[in-house]
Amino acid sequence: MTFENKRAAGIKSSPSMAIATAAKKLAAEGRDIIDLSLGEPDFKPPAHVAEAAIEAIRNGRARYGAAAGMEGLRDAIVSKFKRENQLDYAVDEVMVANGAKQILFGAFLATLEEGDEVIIPTPCWVSYGDIVSLHGGEPVYVSCGIDAGFKLDAKRLEASITPKTRWLMLNSPSNPTGAIYSQEEYRALGTVLARHPRVLVISDEIYEHVLLKDVAFVSFAWACPDLRDRTLIVNGVSKAYAMTGWRVGYAAGPKSLIAALNKMQSQSVTSVSTIAQAAALAALTGDQTFVGEGAATFAGRAKIVADRLAQIEGVDFTPPDGAFYAFIGVQRLLGRKTAAGEVMPDDTAFAAHLLQHFGLSSVPGAAFGAPGFIRLSIAASDRELEGACDRLAAMVQSLQI
Ligand SMILES: Cc1ncc(COP(=O)(O)O)c(C=O)c1O
Repeated sequence: MTFENKRAAGIKSSPSMAIATAAKKLAAEGRDIIDLSLGEPDFKPPAHVAEAAIEAIRNGRARYGAAAGMEGLRDAIVSKFKRENQLDYAVDEVMVANGAKQILFGAFLATLEEGDEVIIPTPCWVSYGDIVSLHGGEPVYVSCGIDAGFKLDAKRLEASITPKTRWLMLNSPSNPTGAIYSQEEYRALGTVLARHPRVLVISDEIYEHVLLKDVAFVSFAWACPDLRDRTLIVNGVSKAYAMTGWRVGYAAGPKSLIAALNKMQSQSVTSVSTIAQAAALAALTGDQTFVGEGAATFAGRAKIVADRLAQIEGVDFTPPDGAFYAFIGVQRLLGRKTAAGEVMPDDTAFAAHLLQHFGLSSVPGAAFGAPGFIRLSIAASDRELEGACDRLAAMVQSLQI
């Protein structure tokens, strides 16, 4: 018997989380597994963040919060946008949610009519399409291959807009590719969007601070000020402050859209945990050294992986500009045979074989709308990354043409 309605039955659980669960199960059975499937910093948040949460508990500052978020935290978010992005938002133009993910839920729940289209350039984060479908929308995937730097351009955008288009989903730095849009690239998209006033833009900037090379981050709303009033910026403390489990994301956008998100929040989760909000406030207003140090650590790890992958015959890899993933082309290895004589048909089989026979957990490119790749998180120790490259190399070597 199924209990699910059509919408719930039409989506799947997060593939990366499902793979991480499978990897954990194998590890619990005693297998030696390196799990690089999930994207989360492997270090603790700064000490003052934990202290702020403990203090909130001790002082009884843990009651229901305002749906939009604690006032002090919203002030800190306003200051963050001014300080880091040169963007002016008023307090009622920002809100706090349970992670960036919940902002997407709120935005689509509040705005999508049945059949509205959401343009999603691929490769894209595994959850976008299913979150759209769950809210009655139609994900329209636009393939942006390696030749396009994995980025959407004006021509492809124009060709994908229809009278039903409601949102364009952007994500820079990108999960999984690490691609970062420049001001010029955003402006080219902005020129197209100017001709389509019904289309709103979500700019997922959650990896803003994870910059691995000398490539600058720009916020979409800063690059395209004329579109500020139909842009929803999605950000949060998960990746920048190693606070993935605290579940604090924040959004900025036009007042009426933010009010709609607050309404969704007030009738669903009420507010974000006020303890976690106290911690996020400390993160955004405290010493920011941690953020730069995290990025430098990830840049060092990206280099280790890039050097090792360059020595593996048959894999294609361009070191990422941002975020903490290695998106590795395995297309040239598909069709080869395993030691048992089975043909490796696609990236999903490749990732499954890598986990089962070589103890390395990755996410197949198909989950990101990009077959022919696998994604490894580089948010792991140097030792684990070296071990992961050894295992990938061993598997590649075991394949026969
Ligand atoms: C592109 C992207 N957006 C959003 C999220 C979710 O972030 P949060 O932890 O704030 O919900 C992730 C998490 O992996 C992500 O990769």
